[in-house]
Amino acid sequence: MATPAWNRRHILSLLDFTVSEYETVLQTTASFREVMARPTKKVPALQGQVVTNLFFEPSTRTRSSFELAAKWLSADTINFAPGSSSLSKGETILDTAKTYLAMGTDMMVIRHKESGVPAAIAAEMDRLGVRVGVLNAGDGLHEHPSQALLDLFTLCSHLDPQNPRPELLQGKKIAIVGDILHSRVARSNLWSLTACGAEVHLAGPPTLLPKLFGTMYEEMAAQQPWRSGKVFLHWSLEAALEDADFVMTLRLQKERMTQHLLPSLREYHLRFGITRDRLQRCRPEVQVLHPGPVNRGVELSSDLMDDPNLSLIAQQVTNGVAVRMALLYLMGSSKL
Ligand code: NCD
Repeated sequence: MATPAWNRRHILSLLDFTVSEYETVLQTTASFREVMARPTKKVPALQGQVVTNLFFEPSTRTRSSFELAAKWLSADTINFAPGSSSLSKGETILDTAKTYLAMGTDMMVIRHKESGVPAAIAAEMDRLGVRVGVLNAGDGLHEHPSQALLDLFTLCSHLDPQNPRPELLQGKKIAIVGDILHSRVARSNLWSLTACGAEVHLAGPPTLLPKLFGTMYEEMAAQQPWRSGKVFLHWSLEAALEDADFVMTLRLQKERMTQHLLPSLREYHLRFGITRDRLQRCRPEVQVLHPGPVNRGVELSSDLMDDPNLSLIAQQVTNGVAVRMALLYLMGSSKL
Protein backbone atom coordinates (compact mmCIF):
# COMPACT_ATOMS: atom_id res chain seq x y z
CA MET A 1 0.00 0.00 0.00
CA ALA A 2 1.44 3.42 -0.98
CA THR A 3 1.69 5.62 2.12
CA PRO A 4 -0.56 8.67 1.68
CA ALA A 5 0.67 12.11 2.81
CA TRP A 6 -0.42 12.77 6.40
CA ASN A 7 0.66 15.69 8.54
CA ARG A 8 -1.00 15.23 11.91
CA ARG A 9 0.90 13.77 14.81
CA HIS A 10 -2.21 13.90 16.99
CA ILE A 11 -5.91 13.35 16.19
CA LEU A 12 -7.83 15.32 18.81
CA SER A 13 -10.78 16.94 17.01
CA LEU A 14 -12.43 17.00 13.57
CA LEU A 15 -13.17 20.72 13.66
CA ASP A 16 -10.29 21.60 11.33
CA PHE A 17 -10.17 18.40 9.24
CA THR A 18 -10.15 19.10 5.50
CA VAL A 19 -12.09 17.20 2.83
CA SER A 20 -8.81 15.85 1.50
CA GLU A 21 -7.99 14.45 4.95
CA TYR A 22 -11.40 12.72 5.06
CA GLU A 23 -10.64 11.32 1.64
CA THR A 24 -7.28 9.95 2.84
CA VAL A 25 -8.93 8.35 5.89
CA LEU A 26 -11.64 6.74 3.72
CA GLN A 27 -9.15 5.37 1.17
CA THR A 28 -6.79 4.04 3.83
CA THR A 29 -9.71 2.45 5.68
CA ALA A 30 -10.87 0.77 2.46
CA SER A 31 -7.37 -0.80 2.12
CA PHE A 32 -7.54 -2.09 5.70
CA ARG A 33 -11.03 -3.49 5.09
CA GLU A 34 -9.37 -5.61 2.37
CA VAL A 35 -6.69 -6.72 4.85
CA MET A 36 -9.45 -7.67 7.32
CA ALA A 37 -11.04 -9.92 4.71
CA ARG A 38 -7.86 -12.03 4.44
CA PRO A 39 -7.43 -15.27 6.41
CA THR A 40 -4.34 -13.68 8.07
CA LYS A 41 -5.28 -10.18 9.11
CA LYS A 42 -1.91 -9.01 10.42
CA VAL A 43 0.35 -6.54 8.55
CA PRO A 44 3.78 -5.41 9.78
CA ALA A 45 3.07 -1.63 9.52
CA LEU A 46 3.69 -0.78 13.20
CA GLN A 47 6.08 -3.59 14.10
CA GLY A 48 8.30 -2.58 17.02
CA GLN A 49 5.99 0.30 18.04
CA VAL A 50 4.10 0.53 21.32
CA VAL A 51 0.45 1.67 21.41
CA THR A 52 -0.90 2.42 24.90
CA ASN A 53 -4.65 2.53 25.53
CA LEU A 54 -5.38 4.92 28.40
CA PHE A 55 -9.11 4.57 29.07
CA PHE A 56 -10.06 6.48 32.20
CA GLU A 57 -13.77 5.84 31.47
CA PRO A 58 -15.65 2.58 30.73
CA SER A 59 -15.70 1.36 27.15
CA THR A 60 -16.45 -1.92 25.36
CA ARG A 61 -16.20 -1.43 21.63
CA THR A 62 -13.86 1.56 21.33
CA ARG A 63 -11.16 0.12 23.59
CA SER A 64 -11.34 -3.41 22.13
CA SER A 65 -11.46 -1.98 18.63
CA PHE A 66 -8.28 0.09 19.16
CA GLU A 67 -6.56 -2.89 20.74
CA LEU A 68 -7.38 -5.18 17.84
CA ALA A 69 -6.45 -2.48 15.31
CA ALA A 70 -3.02 -2.01 16.94
CA LYS A 71 -2.47 -5.78 17.09
CA TRP A 72 -3.38 -6.29 13.43
CA LEU A 73 -0.80 -3.59 12.62
CA SER A 74 1.73 -5.69 14.62
CA ALA A 75 2.24 -3.06 17.36
CA ASP A 76 2.73 -4.08 20.99
CA THR A 77 -0.18 -2.89 23.12
CA ILE A 78 -0.57 -1.88 26.75
CA ASN A 79 -4.01 -1.48 28.31
CA PHE A 80 -4.26 0.82 31.28
CA ALA A 81 -7.14 0.10 33.69
CA PRO A 82 -7.80 3.02 36.10
CA GLY A 83 -9.36 0.85 38.81
CA SER A 84 -6.21 -1.18 39.41
CA SER A 85 -3.71 1.64 38.73
CA SER A 86 -1.66 4.13 40.79
CA LEU A 87 -4.32 6.79 40.11
CA SER A 88 -5.97 5.43 43.24
CA LYS A 89 -2.71 6.24 45.06
CA GLY A 90 -2.88 9.89 44.00
CA GLU A 91 -0.85 9.88 40.77
CA THR A 92 -1.90 12.62 38.32
CA ILE A 93 -3.07 11.81 34.79
CA LEU A 94 -0.05 13.60 33.31
CA ASP A 95 2.30 11.54 35.46
CA THR A 96 0.51 8.36 34.34
CA ALA A 97 1.03 9.40 30.71
CA LYS A 98 4.72 10.20 31.38
CA THR A 99 5.18 6.77 32.98
CA TYR A 100 4.01 5.10 29.75
CA LEU A 101 6.20 7.50 27.76
CA ALA A 102 9.22 6.37 29.78
CA MET A 103 8.39 2.75 28.85
CA GLY A 104 8.72 3.58 25.16
CA THR A 105 5.14 4.32 24.12
CA ASP A 106 4.90 5.68 20.55
CA MET A 107 1.14 6.38 20.47
CA MET A 108 -1.43 6.96 23.19
CA VAL A 109 -5.15 6.40 22.70
CA ILE A 110 -6.95 8.35 25.42
CA ARG A 111 -10.53 8.42 26.73
CA HIS A 112 -11.53 10.57 29.70
CA LYS A 113 -14.77 11.86 31.18
CA GLU A 114 -13.45 15.45 31.15
CA SER A 115 -13.25 17.39 27.87
CA GLY A 116 -9.70 18.43 26.94
CA VAL A 117 -7.66 15.71 28.70
CA PRO A 118 -6.25 14.14 25.47
CA ALA A 119 -5.34 17.65 24.18
CA ALA A 120 -3.59 18.48 27.47
CA ILE A 121 -1.53 15.26 27.30
CA ALA A 122 -0.69 15.94 23.63
CA ALA A 123 0.48 19.47 24.55
CA GLU A 124 2.68 18.03 27.30
CA MET A 125 4.24 15.50 24.88
CA ASP A 126 4.98 18.31 22.41
CA ARG A 127 6.45 20.46 25.21
CA LEU A 128 8.75 17.58 26.15
CA GLY A 129 9.85 17.41 22.50
CA VAL A 130 8.96 13.70 22.12
CA ARG A 131 7.39 12.20 18.99
CA VAL A 132 4.40 10.59 20.64
CA GLY A 133 1.05 10.70 18.83
CA VAL A 134 -2.11 11.20 20.91
CA LEU A 135 -5.52 10.07 19.67
CA ASN A 136 -8.71 11.25 21.37
CA ALA A 137 -10.96 8.22 21.94
CA GLY A 138 -13.74 10.36 23.49
CA ASP A 139 -13.32 13.27 25.90
CA GLY A 140 -16.28 14.37 27.99
CA LEU A 141 -18.94 16.10 25.91
CA HIS A 142 -16.33 17.39 23.48
CA GLU A 143 -15.41 15.01 20.63
CA HIS A 144 -15.04 11.39 19.55
CA PRO A 145 -13.20 11.63 16.21
CA SER A 146 -12.70 7.91 15.52
CA GLN A 147 -16.43 7.25 16.00
CA ALA A 148 -17.42 9.99 13.53
CA LEU A 149 -14.81 8.71 11.04
CA LEU A 150 -16.15 5.16 11.27
CA ASP A 151 -19.66 6.56 10.81
CA LEU A 152 -18.42 8.47 7.74
CA PHE A 153 -16.83 5.33 6.29
CA THR A 154 -20.00 3.33 6.99
CA LEU A 155 -22.20 5.92 5.21
CA CYS A 156 -19.89 6.36 2.21
CA SER A 157 -19.15 2.66 1.74
CA HIS A 158 -22.88 1.91 1.93
CA LEU A 159 -23.41 4.38 -0.92
CA ASP A 160 -20.47 3.09 -3.01
CA PRO A 161 -18.73 -0.01 -1.65
CA GLN A 162 -16.05 0.11 -4.38
CA ASN A 163 -15.06 3.73 -3.89
CA PRO A 164 -16.17 5.35 -0.61
CA ARG A 165 -15.44 9.11 -0.90
CA PRO A 166 -16.63 12.30 0.81
CA GLU A 167 -18.54 13.71 -2.22
CA LEU A 168 -21.08 10.89 -1.92
CA LEU A 169 -22.61 12.77 1.01
CA GLN A 170 -23.22 16.03 -0.91
CA GLY A 171 -26.87 16.98 -0.33
CA LYS A 172 -27.71 13.79 1.59
CA LYS A 173 -30.15 14.30 4.45
CA ILE A 174 -28.88 12.81 7.71
CA ALA A 175 -31.04 12.98 10.85
CA ILE A 176 -29.19 12.76 14.18
CA VAL A 177 -31.74 11.95 16.86
CA GLY A 178 -31.59 11.92 20.65
CA ASP A 179 -29.35 13.17 23.41
CA ILE A 180 -27.40 15.75 21.41
CA LEU A 181 -26.50 17.80 24.50
CA HIS A 182 -24.37 15.07 26.07
CA SER A 183 -23.04 13.56 22.86
CA ARG A 184 -19.41 13.91 21.78
CA VAL A 185 -20.37 11.61 18.89
CA ALA A 186 -22.89 14.19 17.60
CA ARG A 187 -20.33 16.99 17.88
CA SER A 188 -17.65 15.15 15.89
CA ASN A 189 -20.23 14.02 13.31
CA LEU A 190 -21.40 17.59 12.86
CA TRP A 191 -17.90 18.59 11.74
CA SER A 192 -17.31 15.63 9.42
CA LEU A 193 -20.75 15.53 7.82
CA THR A 194 -21.03 19.26 7.14
CA ALA A 195 -17.46 19.35 5.75
CA CYS A 196 -18.55 16.66 3.27
CA GLY A 197 -21.63 18.66 2.23
CA ALA A 198 -24.43 16.77 4.03
CA GLU A 199 -27.62 18.34 5.40
CA VAL A 200 -27.62 17.47 9.10
CA HIS A 201 -30.99 17.54 10.90
CA LEU A 202 -30.63 17.40 14.68
CA ALA A 203 -33.72 16.27 16.58
CA GLY A 204 -34.41 15.83 20.28
CA PRO A 205 -36.44 17.17 23.18
CA PRO A 206 -35.57 20.81 24.06
CA THR A 207 -33.82 19.68 27.26
CA LEU A 208 -31.41 17.55 25.20
CA LEU A 209 -31.12 19.86 22.17
CA PRO A 210 -30.58 23.44 23.37
CA LYS A 211 -31.08 26.26 20.85
CA LEU A 212 -27.56 27.36 21.71
CA PHE A 213 -26.28 24.29 19.89
CA GLY A 214 -27.40 25.82 16.56
CA THR A 215 -25.90 29.19 17.45
CA MET A 216 -22.60 27.55 18.40
CA TYR A 217 -22.51 25.69 15.11
CA GLU A 218 -23.26 28.82 13.08
CA GLU A 219 -20.52 30.79 14.83
CA MET A 220 -17.93 28.09 14.24
CA ALA A 221 -19.01 27.46 10.63
CA ALA A 222 -18.87 31.21 9.83
CA GLN A 223 -15.11 30.96 10.31
CA GLN A 224 -14.89 28.01 7.90
CA PRO A 225 -16.59 29.10 4.66
CA TRP A 226 -15.47 25.90 2.87
CA ARG A 227 -17.92 23.94 5.04
CA SER A 228 -20.66 23.25 2.44
CA GLY A 229 -23.21 21.33 4.53
CA LYS A 230 -26.08 22.77 6.54
CA VAL A 231 -27.49 22.19 10.01
CA PHE A 232 -31.16 22.31 11.09
CA LEU A 233 -32.64 21.88 14.58
CA HIS A 234 -35.98 20.14 15.29
CA TRP A 235 -37.77 19.61 18.59
CA SER A 236 -40.04 16.93 17.16
CA LEU A 237 -39.21 13.96 14.95
CA GLU A 238 -41.47 14.33 11.95
CA ALA A 239 -39.66 17.10 10.01
CA ALA A 240 -36.25 15.61 10.79
CA LEU A 241 -37.23 12.23 9.33
CA GLU A 242 -39.02 13.55 6.22
CA ASP A 243 -37.11 12.13 3.20
CA ALA A 244 -34.02 11.37 5.30
CA ASP A 245 -31.34 9.18 3.67
CA PHE A 246 -29.87 8.08 7.01
CA VAL A 247 -30.98 8.22 10.65
CA MET A 248 -28.28 8.25 13.34
CA THR A 249 -29.67 7.48 16.76
CA LEU A 250 -27.77 8.39 19.94
CA ARG A 251 -27.75 6.77 23.34
CA LEU A 252 -29.49 8.58 26.19
CA GLN A 253 -26.41 9.27 28.33
CA LYS A 254 -28.08 8.73 31.69
CA GLU A 255 -24.72 8.81 33.49
CA ARG A 256 -24.13 12.38 32.26
CA MET A 257 -27.60 13.73 33.11
CA THR A 258 -27.25 15.64 36.33
CA GLN A 259 -30.84 16.94 36.31
CA HIS A 260 -34.18 15.37 35.47
CA LEU A 261 -34.14 16.13 31.76
CA LEU A 262 -36.76 13.57 30.69
CA PRO A 263 -40.14 12.60 32.14
CA SER A 264 -39.41 8.87 31.57
CA LEU A 265 -37.70 6.52 29.12
CA ARG A 266 -41.13 5.33 27.97
CA GLU A 267 -42.20 8.88 27.20
CA TYR A 268 -38.92 9.46 25.34
CA HIS A 269 -39.47 6.34 23.21
CA LEU A 270 -43.00 7.44 22.40
CA ARG A 271 -41.81 10.85 21.17
CA PHE A 272 -38.32 10.19 19.77
CA GLY A 273 -37.82 6.41 19.55
CA ILE A 274 -37.12 5.19 16.00
CA THR A 275 -39.48 2.45 14.84
CA ARG A 276 -40.30 0.83 11.50
CA ASP A 277 -43.47 2.85 11.38
CA ARG A 278 -41.68 6.14 11.80
CA LEU A 279 -39.14 5.26 9.11
CA GLN A 280 -42.02 5.39 6.58
CA ARG A 281 -41.41 9.15 6.43
CA CYS A 282 -37.83 8.66 5.25
CA ARG A 283 -36.57 7.72 1.79
CA PRO A 284 -37.33 4.06 0.95
CA GLU A 285 -33.63 3.11 1.06
CA VAL A 286 -33.09 4.67 4.51
CA GLN A 287 -30.56 3.07 6.91
CA VAL A 288 -30.29 3.43 10.69
CA LEU A 289 -27.03 3.85 12.66
CA HIS A 290 -26.18 3.89 16.38
CA PRO A 291 -22.69 4.25 17.95
CA GLY A 292 -23.56 1.79 20.73
CA PRO A 293 -24.08 0.85 23.46
CA VAL A 294 -27.84 0.82 22.73
CA ASN A 295 -30.64 1.07 25.29
CA ARG A 296 -32.81 -1.50 23.47
CA GLY A 297 -36.38 -0.33 22.96
CA VAL A 298 -35.55 3.25 23.99
CA GLU A 299 -33.60 4.98 21.20
CA LEU A 300 -34.80 2.49 18.62
CA SER A 301 -37.05 -0.55 18.60
CA SER A 302 -35.36 -3.86 19.26
CA ASP A 303 -36.48 -5.51 15.99
CA LEU A 304 -35.16 -2.58 13.93
CA MET A 305 -31.76 -2.80 15.59
CA ASP A 306 -31.39 -6.43 14.47
CA ASP A 307 -32.76 -5.99 10.93
CA PRO A 308 -29.80 -6.23 8.49
CA ASN A 309 -31.87 -4.56 5.75
CA LEU A 310 -32.41 -1.41 7.78
CA SER A 311 -29.59 -1.25 10.30
CA LEU A 312 -25.88 -0.52 9.68
CA ILE A 313 -25.00 -1.03 13.38
CA ALA A 314 -23.04 -4.28 12.93
CA GLN A 315 -21.14 -2.74 10.01
CA GLN A 316 -20.25 0.27 12.15
CA VAL A 317 -18.52 -2.07 14.61
CA THR A 318 -16.59 -3.94 11.88
CA ASN A 319 -15.64 -0.72 10.09
CA GLY A 320 -14.52 0.70 13.44
CA VAL A 321 -11.54 -1.67 13.53
CA ALA A 322 -10.51 -0.75 9.96
CA VAL A 323 -10.85 3.00 10.63
CA ARG A 324 -8.72 2.68 13.77
CA MET A 325 -6.09 0.70 11.84
CA ALA A 326 -6.07 3.54 9.30
CA LEU A 327 -5.75 6.26 11.97
CA LEU A 328 -2.90 4.54 13.83
CA TYR A 329 -1.16 3.81 10.53
CA LEU A 330 -1.52 7.42 9.33
CA MET A 331 -0.32 8.85 12.65
CA GLY A 332 2.67 6.48 12.51
CA SER A 333 3.51 7.77 9.03
CA SER A 334 3.14 11.47 9.93
CA LYS A 335 6.12 13.60 8.98
CA LEU A 336 5.37 16.01 11.84
C1 NCD B 1 -20.06 6.52 22.52
C2 NCD B 1 -19.19 7.23 23.54
O1 NCD B 1 -18.60 6.62 24.42
O2 NCD B 1 -19.11 8.43 23.40
N1 NCD B 1 -19.88 5.15 22.42
C3 NCD B 1 -18.85 4.65 21.70
O3 NCD B 1 -17.73 5.09 21.77
N2 NCD B 1 -19.14 3.63 20.88
C4 NCD B 1 -21.47 6.86 22.69
C5 NCD B 1 -22.12 6.49 23.96
O4 NCD B 1 -21.49 6.19 24.97
O5 NCD B 1 -23.35 6.56 23.96
